[in-house]
Amino acid sequence: MAADPSLFAGLLDNDGHTGPVYRRITQAIATAVTTGRLAAGDRLPTHRELARELGIAVPTVSRGYREAEQQGLISSTVGRGTFVSGVSGIPHLRDTPETGHGPSARQIDMAVNAPAQGMHDELMRRAITAVAATAAPDALLGYESDIGTYEQRLAACRWLALSGLDIKPEQVAICHGSQHALLVALAAALRPGETLLTEALTYPGVKSAARLLGLSIQAVAMDAHGLIPEALEKACASAGAPRVLYCMPTAHNPTASTLPPERRQAIVDIARRHNLLIIEDDVFGLLAEDTPAAPLAMLAPERTLFLTSLSKTLSPGLRCGFLAGPPQMADRIGALIRATIFNPSPLATAVAMRWLADGTAERLLDWQRDEMARRRTAAKHLLFPHPAVADVRTAGLHAWVELHQPWSASEVATLASGLGISISSTRNFMATDQAVPRGVRLCLGNAADVGTLTTTLRTLADGLERGRPTWASSTRV
Ligand SMILES: Cc1ncc(COP(=O)(O)O)c(C=O)c1O
Repeated sequence: MAADPSLFAGLLDNDGHTGPVYRRITQAIATAVTTGRLAAGDRLPTHRELARELGIAVPTVSRGYREAEQQGLISSTVGRGTFVSGVSGIPHLRDTPETGHGPSARQIDMAVNAPAQGMHDELMRRAITAVAATAAPDALLGYESDIGTYEQRLAACRWLALSGLDIKPEQVAICHGSQHALLVALAAALRPGETLLTEALTYPGVKSAARLLGLSIQAVAMDAHGLIPEALEKACASAGAPRVLYCMPTAHNPTASTLPPERRQAIVDIARRHNLLIIEDDVFGLLAEDTPAAPLAMLAPERTLFLTSLSKTLSPGLRCGFLAGPPQMADRIGALIRATIFNPSPLATAVAMRWLADGTAERLLDWQRDEMARRRTAAKHLLFPHPAVADVRTAGLHAWVELHQPWSASEVATLASGLGISISSTRNFMATDQAVPRGVRLCLGNAADVGTLTTTLRTLADGLERGRPTWASSTRV
């Protein structure tokens, strides 16, 4: 029998559907098989028919069908068509009907801090097509200006205004993602052998960049609200103290803290007193839970290099980052971009600029904000209160889970790994050798949808409950 033609209706609406379009197709097939709307032997529309019906590209349908085939839901025979195989391909029906903690949950990656995916693949396809159709014949083929064209930097300024930045195109450079912006900022500010101040827990990418540039790192203490001004003052007080601070004032990675306004002002005052340059990393800033206070770059524009990218808000694949700073540093930044990548990729930048110009970027940002708000709420509700968990803070795309004794970060990472959930080792975030904090970061963006994330978090919460270290069974947690 041919499948009910309305099976895929409404698949492109955001209402109740999340994840890339191809995955929605797979999901629609799985749901229809589970609910009996599709029976073994039913014939699905051809790739071309479904693509036409939904107004999407044929490869998107092919990918959706391929995933469904890999899951054993359907099978295709050349010349005959695509047919439903039955329920044997649905992991939770096949393996663990009560818990739903089947293989699909075991594949969840909570280590990589990536945004959730909605209509991104389809929108990317459209943007690439539009760029191909409208770009001047040689615009994408040659070398470009090292810091990006004036128009691109103007578009960057408009995007940065969403973060509260009021700057001119002369102050901005387009980089190859914010990791590249960070490397350029560090190389612009420091010489090999010098020391960089960072929060005691920090983004691992700053450690790799510092290593590459021959810099040492000195950790500055932080608490639930972020960097502690008194600790910064102390670090700056001695003779020969470091001259540069790297920090994440909003939606800190990994601790999800956001600096309150008084601390921001105190940090800026200290920086002015000690002639400290600040590198402010704001990659998660636009995904903060509340409107954050002014960026340090606005409180102390004369001494702050501000960096961010479209990776967390739109898509890491764009590799589009922005580095903004005092005009007197612009030449050095341009020279460093030339030395590292010559210029940002014209093709990738053109696609990013298309999204910025036609409103797609703001729509995707709004979608990501809503989606992550739902995911962060799920994380808070599922993990707190919990006997193993002292606190859960969320921001941006991640949650920071503070643990009660006797749990340690490495025990939780090992337990999670045994459940098939990968999380980063907390050691990766330690700026220097210190006691490993009792906390783990969970990345919430990779799960296909809130339902899958909920299942995964439940698996983890149950595992923590069951797997409490036995050697400490007498300790109250
Ligand atoms: C705090 C922070 N800064 C910078 C980056 C680099 O991101 P990208 O190079 O994709 O912009 C990351 C990536 O995880 C990050 O967490």
